[in-house]
Amino acid sequence: MTTAIIGTGGIGSAIARQLAAGGETLQLSSADKESARKLAAAIGGAAVVALDNRSALQGADAVILALRFSVLKDVIDEIAEALSETCLVVPSNPVGLDAHGKVVRLLPEGQSSGEVVAGWLPAGTPFAIAFGTMSADLFESSSHRSPERAVLFYVSENEHGSDEVEHLIRTAGFEPVRIGGVEQSSRLEVSGDLHDLVVGSAEARSLVVGA
Ligand SMILES: NC(=O)c1ccc[n+]([C@@H]2O[C@H](COP(=O)([O-])OP(=O)(O)OC[C@H]3O[C@@H](n4cnc5c(N)ncnc54)[C@H](OP(=O)(O)O)[C@@H]3O)[C@@H](O)[C@H]2O)c1
Repeated sequence: MTTAIIGTGGIGSAIARQLAAGGETLQLSSADKESARKLAAAIGGAAVVALDNRSALQGADAVILALRFSVLKDVIDEIAEALSETCLVVPSNPVGLDAHGKVVRLLPEGQSSGEVVAGWLPAGTPFAIAFGTMSADLFESSSHRSPERAVLFYVSENEHGSDEVEHLIRTAGFEPVRIGGVEQSSRLEVSGDLHDLVVGSAEARSLVVGA
């Protein structure tokens, strides 16, 4: 299958490497074209660089927006017309830096990033928050864990889960566990109880229901 990845920084490049290693075909786009080109060259034949963000979605089954939260809305607006048929996956955590360089949450307490992003999307866009639940280093070192794969938690609008997102998570070398709807996304972000956890399925499921 083909996935567009927009944003080839820390987490976008880690996701791209793991998906390509699992056999996914990638269409990459980034504000810095050189970073997308370098990543595609390092990955090899499985990755191509798109002309721009919108054309990255052409023929793609899913698009991963590996972007800082502060630029997400602008890029969603830019690609909105191409989104209706494409599953959108967002790894972004709603954090930024304050004037003193301290990491701060960009949304008010109690407001989930999943609900905010869902409100920016054209109606009916299949949408999930996934792939941002671990630091890029932990994500790559935990991929294809043996003997039991580690879990990657996600949230999706569809209460039955998302076949596309579960395909991507498995392709990247993890076992998918949906924790609920997009209103649950705070549990996955930097300060959430399910962030940076490397656990197997049984422990993951007890953590999801035990909260
Ligand atoms: N890094 C991690 O370990 C990690 C782990 C989990 C979740 N996350 C979350 O993932 C998100 C991205 O983090 P990151 O560390 O990967 O950030 P990053 O290294 O700054 O990468 C962001 C990428 O987005 C690109 N970009 C910016 N504006 C764009 C636009 N308009 N169109 C296309 N591409 C654009 C940037 O290109 P330029 O460099 O040219 O600006 C850069 O390649 C954040 O919300 C973060 O909280 C990160």
